[in-house]
Amino acid sequence: MNWFGNAHLHNCYILVLINKEQIMPAPNGLRTFDVAPSPTTGGARPEQTAQRLTLLQLTDPHLFAEPDGQLLGVTTRRSFEAVLELALAHSPPADALVLTGDLVHDESREGYRALRRLLDRTGLPYYCIPGNHDSQPLMEELLGPAALGPVAVRTLGDWNLVFLDSTEPGREGGRIGQARLAALGDALVAKRSPAVIFLHQHPIPVQSAWMDRLSVEDGDELIALCNRHHQVKALVCGHVHQEFAQRLDGYWVLGTPSTCVQFEPRQSKFAIDAQPPGYRELTLLANGALETRVVRLDGYPERPSRTAGGY
Ligand SMILES: [Fe+2]
Repeated sequence: MNWFGNAHLHNCYILVLINKEQIMPAPNGLRTFDVAPSPTTGGARPEQTAQRLTLLQLTDPHLFAEPDGQLLGVTTRRSFEAVLELALAHSPPADALVLTGDLVHDESREGYRALRRLLDRTGLPYYCIPGNHDSQPLMEELLGPAALGPVAVRTLGDWNLVFLDSTEPGREGGRIGQARLAALGDALVAKRSPAVIFLHQHPIPVQSAWMDRLSVEDGDELIALCNRHHQVKALVCGHVHQEFAQRLDGYWVLGTPSTCVQFEPRQSKFAIDAQPPGYRELTLLANGALETRVVRLDGYPERPSRTAGGY
């Protein structure tokens, strides 16, 4: 069944950043960070020029071995397929897919095999980092070179994509640790091109007490490191199952909806949100500017049970 065909697009929080203090609605649905040039008119569409690279971030799919496996009443493989289909159809042609953890909820071989089949089918390069609901050995075995960490850099055009494993076995919250911080620092010294850092857990509070207890424990050290390296344009995470954006010292911290179940923002206790699944589009410009937006599957028929007390 083609879920995309039955759903309506819903772009959330459509904004453009004029400067660091002022936020205004944007007619083109893009959120622009830093000082981006105005879209060109006539000739090739801006997204078709070589100066714009498009990444699609899909996060927290929480797949299961069984195709009909559910998380809080949502059939996660079906919703992931629907979001992937939406992303490929609705965004400009993508240069790569990025998956930021909680890939397979039951940490099963078949779950990772299913993920690989779906991603291979796109014909696009894809990069995966682990979440707290993942098995790194199985990721390495079944996703091959797409499984990245603990600190990995991939060059895309004029940009560096930095993949940072923020997980520790047995912990729901994240911790980078001195070894990974040092490796990240070395990578940022060696590579001065504009960079986006992807990690699973959020490094700063999102103002939900229960979720913030599961953030990156040493997030302050990660932020201090990024503050010293001005080529860092964004830290992009999963884990929070909600849209989030906060400007720091010259870069953004961005959170992204899950492809299955959403958490309600700014809650002291665990709370399910009725928002539909979604993904984040990131457009990287040659001048170091970054545009991004979240797109959701409005009208997606399956919604989670809102009475759940946890997951
Ligand atoms: Fe998750």
